[in-house]
Amino acid sequence: MTESTAQENRIGTDATVWKKAALVERYLGRVRKGVPMAEAQIDVMMRVIEGRGQPVENFLDLGCGDGILAATILTEYPEASGVLVDFSTPMIQAALRNLKEYSHALHLTTLDYSEPSWFDMVAARGPFDVIVSGYSIHHQPDAKKQQIYADVFDLLKPGGVFVNMEHVASSTPWVEARHDDFFIDSLWASQVGSEDAKSREEIAAAYHVREDKAANQLTSVERQCAWLRQIGFQDVDCYFKAFELAVFGGRRPFELPEREDA
Ligand SMILES: C[S@@+](CC[C@H](N)C(=O)[O-])C[C@H]1O[C@@H](n2cnc3c(N)ncnc32)[C@H](O)[C@@H]1O
Repeated sequence: MTESTAQENRIGTDATVWKKAALVERYLGRVRKGVPMAEAQIDVMMRVIEGRGQPVENFLDLGCGDGILAATILTEYPEASGVLVDFSTPMIQAALRNLKEYSHALHLTTLDYSEPSWFDMVAARGPFDVIVSGYSIHHQPDAKKQQIYADVFDLLKPGGVFVNMEHVASSTPWVEARHDDFFIDSLWASQVGSEDAKSREEIAAAYHVREDKAANQLTSVERQCAWLRQIGFQDVDCYFKAFELAVFGGRRPFELPEREDA
């Protein structure tokens, strides 16, 4: 057994499954390309960012993966600098490869944003105009999700926006089954005609037993938007939703209300 295989065998059934090279390879090679309506989600994210009415000077990407969201921001705002956070070495390596041409303006860091120390490490490079996250925070328990959103609020410049592209909970098992069919159909369609194309049955079987599914801690988008409002975000909304795929977020106000205990 190689040292890296031994390390991977010690990885648990929580979000750390993303440290496994095989899962990263499957996600980047097959799953990300097959996410239903992915282009529409990215378009919505960019419209929210553009709504600031100013160029993006700097941004933060939490759970950046191979840098898919960062690449889109940098294409639109090539002068921007970015901090990209991910605790998976194979993902950070993929992001380094994909974003080579922007390397002078990027800081990629292998960091766990569920650890309290992450805030100070990132705050040293903030505050940020834009904070994005894609399909990452749903592995955290609810109390931790709320803490991360409060940290995100504190890391934004006045008027800065947070956009979370996220896997959220269905309202009932019946709706969840509709989501599963929607996702499987999209995964299947995205690889038809490729050299190693799989049948819909094979894709469905792999989808239902995937490792990262066991690590999900899904929460409804309504609940998460309510947390953002409580924290103080403005213009909070679910800007896009198709079954369990949502793009939601809000803006940090330019002026914060006076604290009662001040
Ligand atoms: C499903 S992938 C999404 C990657 C990319 N954002 C995208 O939209 O394709 C989830 C990513 O979040 C990262 N991640 C999950 N929990 C994390 C944590 N606590 N700290 C840092 N990264 C985390 C994983 O390593 C993985 O790269």
